[in-house]
Amino acid sequence: MKQPSVCSSAFFVLFFSFPLSWAQRSSPEDERSSCNRCNEHLSCNCSYSGFDNVPTVTDSALTIDLSFNHITTVTNDDLRGHTRLRVLSLRGNILALIQPAAFSPLWSLEELDLSDNQLTILNQDWFSELGALRQLNLLNNPYRALGSPPVFQGLRRLRRLALGGAALEELRREALAGVTQLEEFTLHANNLKRYEAGSLADMWPLGRVILSLHGPFLSDPALASAVLRDVSYPETPMVLSDLHLIGYESVQPLREAAKSRIRSLTFRNFSLSDEAIVNFLLVSSGAPVTSLIVDDITLTGEGRWERANWTDHKSIDEFFIRNAEILDVYKFVSLLDLGFLLAYPRKVSVIGSKVFVMPCLTSHLLVNLQYLDLSDNLLTDLTLVESLCQGDGSMKDLRVLNVSTNALKSLSTLSWLVTKLSKLTHLDVSGNGYSSMPQGCSWPPTLRHLNLSWAKLTAVTPCLPTSLEVLDLSHNNLKAFPVALSLPALIELHLSGNKFLSLPAGGMFPSLHTLIMTSNTLNMFGRSDLQSYRRLQNLQVGQNKFVCSCNFVSFFQSYRDSGREEKVRLTDGDESYICDSPLHLRGELVSRVRFTLSECHLVLLVSSSCGTALVLGILLGVLLWHIHAFWYVKMMWAWLKAKRSSASRRHRRHADGTAVEPLLRFDAFVSYCERDAGWVENFLVPELEEPRQNDEGAQNAENLQPLSLCLHKRDFLPGHWIVDNIMSAMERSRHTIFVLSEHFVRSDWCRYELDFSHFRLFDGDANGDAAILVLLEPLSKDDIPRRFYKLRKLMGSTTYLEWPQEEERRAEFWRNLRNALRGDEEED
Ligand SMILES: *[C@@H]1O[C@H](CO)[C@@H](O)[C@H](O)[C@H]1NC(C)=O
Ligand SMILES: *[C@@H]1O[C@H](CO)[C@@H](O)[C@H](O)[C@H]1NC(C)=O
Ligand SMILES: *[C@@H]1O[C@H](CO)[C@@H](O)[C@H](O)[C@H]1NC(C)=O
Repeated sequence: MKQPSVCSSAFFVLFFSFPLSWAQRSSPEDERSSCNRCNEHLSCNCSYSGFDNVPTVTDSALTIDLSFNHITTVTNDDLRGHTRLRVLSLRGNILALIQPAAFSPLWSLEELDLSDNQLTILNQDWFSELGALRQLNLLNNPYRALGSPPVFQGLRRLRRLALGGAALEELRREALAGVTQLEEFTLHANNLKRYEAGSLADMWPLGRVILSLHGPFLSDPALASAVLRDVSYPETPMVLSDLHLIGYESVQPLREAAKSRIRSLTFRNFSLSDEAIVNFLLVSSGAPVTSLIVDDITLTGEGRWERANWTDHKSIDEFFIRNAEILDVYKFVSLLDLGFLLAYPRKVSVIGSKVFVMPCLTSHLLVNLQYLDLSDNLLTDLTLVESLCQGDGSMKDLRVLNVSTNALKSLSTLSWLVTKLSKLTHLDVSGNGYSSMPQGCSWPPTLRHLNLSWAKLTAVTPCLPTSLEVLDLSHNNLKAFPVALSLPALIELHLSGNKFLSLPAGGMFPSLHTLIMTSNTLNMFGRSDLQSYRRLQNLQVGQNKFVCSCNFVSFFQSYRDSGREEKVRLTDGDESYICDSPLHLRGELVSRVRFTLSECHLVLLVSSSCGTALVLGILLGVLLWHIHAFWYVKMMWAWLKAKRSSASRRHRRHADGTAVEPLLRFDAFVSYCERDAGWVENFLVPELEEPRQNDEGAQNAENLQPLSLCLHKRDFLPGHWIVDNIMSAMERSRHTIFVLSEHFVRSDWCRYELDFSHFRLFDGDANGDAAILVLLEPLSKDDIPRRFYKLRKLMGSTTYLEWPQEEERRAEFWRNLRNALRGDEEED
């Protein structure tokens, strides 16, 4: 049974791994590069990668960006399998050929960008399967005509379409057949030569139309008129770009837009002479244009527009001018004659146009003005005084004043200039040079929104109006809020990009809903900080210098986890909360930091580990005591010490040249206990040292030779350490007689001797036979303490001599003892 599975796994390895490595080395025409720079949203960025054909990308990709490569062709196979793809960009390649079925697999495609390529013909087959397509960009390809057969017919869901380019010369009927309900239509037709009237007329309803018709406006106004006629509807804002209007003729196409009662007209990237402006004012006189937006405009004239001062522009509600350039600023006359234009609009924006003053007389003309945006200009405190007519309250309806990004420096000047604007609710003075705040200011009581961001303020004072609902002080140099301040109505407070070290005290802002404090120098914040805010719901404190301490991290993570239940929510993503310190956590997300127990509970850990160590120590001590380890160590130590001193003693004697003491001076060392001294002195010593010759006859005379015994009482050298004495006694004795009795075993001192004698048995010199055990009274092996295991073993194995109580057996005992003592000597 094993065999086939081995074979099949080998087959598997061969089958799957071999072709992979082989594919990498295959011939160049089969080779397809691959791109796998996909993010977690399955969006694959393969732009600027030098691909010259469509690389392989994972089938599950939702977005593929192949812009700015060198791709020339899209084949029918290149995008096979991408049925989930939503967005495909091939912008900025050198695409000249797309095979007819190349996009057929892309059933889910919603956005397709083919702009800035080399497509000379648009093929209807490309789009036939793209039923889900909402957005299609075909700008700036060198196709010259659009029309039969209609290309976009199948694109029922299409909402945004961009067409045309420098090469486009002809638009025929049917060009946009099937296209309706566009939200936005862009046509670049700067060089359009032929236009079949009505070609763009069927696109209604149309959200917004953006037209570049530079050439037609200049050289073929009739053609431009025809185009405008087809796409002008009252509700469709029109953006006209890249125009250069000089005289009467070039303005005439706009008549079509005016006739269609168009409401919103935007001019973008424009240049205009005085005559063109006058003609435009004439053409649009009486038309209901409400919003006139001009972006990137160059005025080539001198501002002489008086000829049009009888025209009717009552409907104008909004003038929006951005990036206007006046070629000849010094000859430009003031706009004083424009009362007919300025009396009506409620909104005027002149942005980024190097305006350094708006004369007070002009301000007086703006009688309906509610919204004035002069941001990104060159206004100073002085010219602002002129523009706001010394704060006399002209422009009395003004609600929004935006003078952001100018060169203003004095907040007190500003405050007295606006204080009479009794309807002012929004004041945006961001991006100016305010560096300090006076202690007191007067403001219109209506002021709700104040934007003081991107200035150089280092402190805030009670100058701030108490009526404020939204206050933006972000990107200043603020460190703290003065405690005296109270902003009872404040709902939204922006403090990003300052130098706050902590959240301001919530008590100052009883109504605050939103607090944005990203990019400060906050180290941490906690629940108590948040609880001081009564109404706070939305808090953003990301991008601060968080110190990822245990407290902060655990607070943060539990706060995040409890999520919706918390009253105050952190509405910027987890990814903005990044540890700044400690060093090893720098750059890590606070939400991902994991601490080990030891990092967070050091005190607890130290105390508990000390406790554990103590308990273990005690247990170990008990254990060691139990197995008599201390005794062994003590003995070992004593033994080593004694050995050393005896060795040195011997050595000394050799060196002295004196007679070497015979190593064995005694026949036996007697180890006994004081309580048994009687027996030793009265029986043992007389019997062995002074044998009675008459005893037992002379049959064993040799046996009755006197033996020499070593007794500690008698033979130990006074003044020497007892252990030394025992050591040397044992060394110099052939045998050791242990006189064992219950006393011996029980009494401490005897035990010591026994201990020691026993230890001696470990020594290499001593063998079991050297020890002779004499039992004075019956003792079983179990009476001997366990630690004398060698002695116990001896008692178990070797025979021992028992002191008989009966007189008649004592002779035998002595004989046996003598034999034991002599036995060895004979062998020697
Ligand atoms: C602005 O329009 C001119 C033609 O009037 C054109 O050459 C130029 O490329 C346009 N600029 C932009 C940024 O579109
Ligand atoms: C003021 O103008 C700036 C720049 O044009 C803009 O960002 C800001 O939103 C405007 N403020 C108001 C209150 O409209
Ligand atoms: C304040 O002005 C800055 C710069 O113009 C702008 O980015 C910000 O959104 C404004 N703040 C508010 C609350 O509108």
